[in-house]
Amino acid sequence: MSPGDGTVRPDGTVTGAEGTDLVPFLQACRREATRHTPVWLMRQAGRYLPEYRQIRSRLGFLELCKNPEAATEVTLLPVDRLKVDAAILFADILLVVEPMGVGLEFSKGDGPVIHRPVRTGVDVDRLRDVPVEESVPFVFETVRQVRRALDARRPRVPLIGFAGAPFTLASYLIEGGASRNYLYAKRLMHGDPGVWHALMAKLARTVSAYVRGQIAAGAEAVQLFDSWVGTLAPDDYRELVLPHTRALIQALPPGVPVIHFGTGTAGLLPLMKEAGGDVIGLDWRVDLGETWDRLGSDIAVQGNLDPVALLDKPAEFRPRVQAILDGARRRPGHIFNLGHGVLPETPVEHAVALVDMVHELSAR
Ligand code: CP3
Repeated sequence: MSPGDGTVRPDGTVTGAEGTDLVPFLQACRREATRHTPVWLMRQAGRYLPEYRQIRSRLGFLELCKNPEAATEVTLLPVDRLKVDAAILFADILLVVEPMGVGLEFSKGDGPVIHRPVRTGVDVDRLRDVPVEESVPFVFETVRQVRRALDARRPRVPLIGFAGAPFTLASYLIEGGASRNYLYAKRLMHGDPGVWHALMAKLARTVSAYVRGQIAAGAEAVQLFDSWVGTLAPDDYRELVLPHTRALIQALPPGVPVIHFGTGTAGLLPLMKEAGGDVIGLDWRVDLGETWDRLGSDIAVQGNLDPVALLDKPAEFRPRVQAILDGARRRPGHIFNLGHGVLPETPVEHAVALVDMVHELSAR
């Protein structure tokens, strides 16, 4: 690898950071000026892509995640098709909790199911503590294969690794799957805070090892998905979640940007910033410009088009894209994304048009 390729060195610094050839996505993570606003889409490698559905007709979702060649192929699909500014590893936030022995299944249509939910101190003690190198080696192998493929491309496309944040993972483990009101999780956090903290600490340790493993294998930035944290009152977040997310982020190597994302977080964003991360992910329920002003210029922001907008024709969602770029006011440190994942109903040409549109409207 020659200097100036914009790759992450073992010490976490980036080659080419001094030069002009650093890729826009990593520059924006560091709040440096870019030639255009970088854009990628959460769930860019999913069911809206016919090539993805084709692969899924042969392989189950977990089978696909555990097959590095197939997962690499899927990771690269949107890079080729959409020309996004970053690839995101194809995997799932729940892969790292499966080896803890909770009985994970992805059943058709219902999303993830945890067959042995974690609701007591005994359940927490029973969670197996297997080193990530042994429990999820296929994820690290996928990262290595994707990096090899991406490094061969010009312009170079950086790879984002990711993990679930402790609260969102705990919510699946405790509820046993998706949830509306998080009754079991909230009752545990208030009814037995000692058990809650033990579970969160265990998850934070496992996830930080998992993310460090992805970085060692070649991930150049990481996104922490705290997708469901917006269900919490600020005081609960501050006392019962923030210390664990902060410990996780502090255990990561400096120099690799962390994107800290959640949905429904309007009332939590300053606390999420306090917990850590270089970039804060915004959903579409907040005004990007106003929220960035409120959070301060010492943090980058990612977002925040409503994923439903992509069901409209490009000419119809163009003004909404423009409005988000206007809100960002060309301040360095904006990464364009949806406010949450691409919906399966999205026409592929609309996603392609969005990426082109962001590049065109933001060209400096
Ligand atoms: O963004 C990407 O393209 C990378 C791949 C990725 C997946 N899951 C693949 C996936 C990422 C980053 C995730 C993260 C993830 N997984 C989150 C956080 C992001 C978010 O949406 O808030 C969560 C909460 C999960 C757990 C999960 N996995 C759920 C709730 C579901 C079912 C919902 C659904 O869309 O079907 C999954 C399954 C899943 N993960 C799919 C994909 C492509 C669909 C599986 C399929 O049917 O093929």
